[in-house]
Amino acid sequence: MNDFSKHLIAWQKTHGRHDLPWQNTRDPYAIWVSEIMLQQTQVAAVIPYYTRFMASFPDVTALAAADEDRVLEHWSGLGYYSRARNLHEAARRIIVQHHRKFPQQIADIEALPGIGRSTAAAIAVFAFGQRHAILDGNVKRVLARAFGIEGWPGQPAVEKRLWALAEKLLPEDEIAAYTQGLMDLGATLCARNKPRCAACPQTDACVARAQQRVAELPSPKPRKTLPEKKTTLLLLLSGNEIMLEKRPPTGIWGGLWSLPEVEETTDAPQMIQQHYGITKATPALPLPSFTHTFSHFRLHITPQPIRVKKSAQAEEQGRIWLELEDALNAALPAPIRKILKTFLRQKSPETTL
Ligand code: ADE
Repeated sequence: MNDFSKHLIAWQKTHGRHDLPWQNTRDPYAIWVSEIMLQQTQVAAVIPYYTRFMASFPDVTALAAADEDRVLEHWSGLGYYSRARNLHEAARRIIVQHHRKFPQQIADIEALPGIGRSTAAAIAVFAFGQRHAILDGNVKRVLARAFGIEGWPGQPAVEKRLWALAEKLLPEDEIAAYTQGLMDLGATLCARNKPRCAACPQTDACVARAQQRVAELPSPKPRKTLPEKKTTLLLLLSGNEIMLEKRPPTGIWGGLWSLPEVEETTDAPQMIQQHYGITKATPALPLPSFTHTFSHFRLHITPQPIRVKKSAQAEEQGRIWLELEDALNAALPAPIRKILKTFLRQKSPETTL
């Protein structure tokens, strides 16, 4: 066995993580859900979401049978909501195409929506003990450092080299401990900032460490500045109720409940008359503006509360009126939840609209 794998497996057994809620099971469904949640979110943030999700949807049949809205509610606040929609769609395909049984062939696993090469490999390793290489963001960092691989790992040529290396390093045995060890090392000692090299099992074998280039590897993504957009989000209030509007299924916050949006070029009263047939409207002081950063742009948001008289048009499909406290339980994107919480906090008797 190569030294890299040998050191890693020994380290994982004594220093790695063994009691995470998705470990000590070989249920492919439980492992799949965890791997999807962990794709863009750290372990500590995932755990409470994972526990709730598994309690509500304990198996693939339960998930496939659930309403999409309910699934999204369980994802509310985790971000990257296409993960939840794909998970739900994949559950339905497993029922129909795989007769309720999670597929075991790596090609079939990877064909499911939301499952890329690395996630398919992780599931096949942990659930079925198969021998496949993983390569997520953390593993790319570990390998780029340990083997001194230059270039931004998101660049196809660099990624190709890293995949080849990941395949070559695979041990013959103890594939689960090895795979978990890679994840654990990447998430703990071999962190992006302030890695704890002194405790690392690879010590002398790490090229970046030997050359004192740990801070430079992996090479960063060539930076381009994100485009900036501005928007006003309306809190349409009637009594103690607020109107939420369902986002279209694709795009930012797809399928979640949000607030009506006024583009820069129109003004709010005109917009709510046109779209909602609301003629009686009294704007209040706007809430503080803030910026939310998406992967591909930055959005400057100004929340604008407006007291209105409900109209028939404002109760059409895709729009609901909820008591403010109940609205917090809906499937909301994190920034919308923040706005509602700020508004509730500010709403003292003196400032009630
Ligand atoms: N990150 C991705 N998959 C993981 C797992 N199974 N355990 C811990 N962290 C992870």
